[in-house]
Amino acid sequence: LLAEKGGYKHFMLKEIFEQPRAISDTIAGRLVEEEGAVYLEDLSLGDHELKAVERIYIIACGTSWHAGLVGKFLIEDHCRIPVEVDIASEFRYRNPVVNDKTLIILISQSGETADTLAAMREGKARGGKNIAICNVVDSSIAREADGVIYTHAGPEIGVASTKAFVTQLVALYLFTIKLGRTIATIDKAKGQAMIASLVRIPSLLEKSLELNPQVETIARKYMNARDFLYLGRGINYPIALEGALKLKEISYIHAEGYPAGEMKHGPIALIDEHMPVVILVPRNSNYEKVASNMEEVIARGGRVIAVCSAGDEDIRGKAEVTVEIPRDSDDLAPILLSVPLQLLAYHVAVLKGTDVDQPRNLAKSVTVE
Ligand code: G6P
Repeated sequence: LLAEKGGYKHFMLKEIFEQPRAISDTIAGRLVEEEGAVYLEDLSLGDHELKAVERIYIIACGTSWHAGLVGKFLIEDHCRIPVEVDIASEFRYRNPVVNDKTLIILISQSGETADTLAAMREGKARGGKNIAICNVVDSSIAREADGVIYTHAGPEIGVASTKAFVTQLVALYLFTIKLGRTIATIDKAKGQAMIASLVRIPSLLEKSLELNPQVETIARKYMNARDFLYLGRGINYPIALEGALKLKEISYIHAEGYPAGEMKHGPIALIDEHMPVVILVPRNSNYEKVASNMEEVIARGGRVIAVCSAGDEDIRGKAEVTVEIPRDSDDLAPILLSVPLQLLAYHVAVLKGTDVDQPRNLAKSVTVE
């Protein structure tokens, strides 16, 4: 079994460390660098169909839904088409506005999640076109979708999704370039720049993985907390949700993810000297805002674990601990931020002695409603 785990103690840790390779595989054969364009072999939708899209729904469950929330930022920012992100079990039972100018993107690692499959059928019955972002080749959702973008992350065994998640983010980024180039909201030069940032990601991820021993020390320091709060803003807000979900899933510590600017409307009441608050504060356009949210936490005695850009002296001087990630494209920061949060959840769970790869009450894929 140790061999199956490639010498790692758990599948989850192996899969965290596989992420640079997984992302290289998601990208492989899909970049037309000199054109600033992307080739998606099984997309099935022609240029005229993409040009007709007026509204996009992204539908998924769990971690895949968090990827969808990041996708909304990418597509709206670069393609200027309104995107709504829905939880599959909600979408299928309301009365969504869908027509033949609606594109529905289903995201599912397994391609077998019952609610996501049902939402896909519901959207299709209402006349929408669809594309699935799946990891498992020939899964039910992948087979039934009009088009598919495979993530090619390789088999994911750990119930808590890691490499599948970051490759979903890459697939959404690739789709954004594809759509933007087709509808001319992204020109060739911008496409080239977006691709250049993407190509740098695997090696930046390798660097982020070097944080592992440091994150283990941090896990030891905070493992006995009863609750955790995770805060992020903008495109990194879904990563706060995902960080909290990971911790909950495998360590059984209660954790909540929140948009940093919304903290004052509720969660701030929970902050005291026992409460670790993980704050995602890389140097981007929201930086000043998140930094001031961090000060609000500190002023109330909260224990700040800041995930920030490498060398940020200001944050170092204020937070209780910092975890520093390489700085690059803001659009791809969610990928780099994910690594320390995955490692934090992993080490807390290991230290608590839980069953990391098969946490209680959870299933890798939920094929019943
Ligand atoms: C289960 C898993 C989660 C996963 C979710 C959606 O709850 O435990 O890790 O995010 O299903 O799965 P899918 O295969 O559709 O991405």
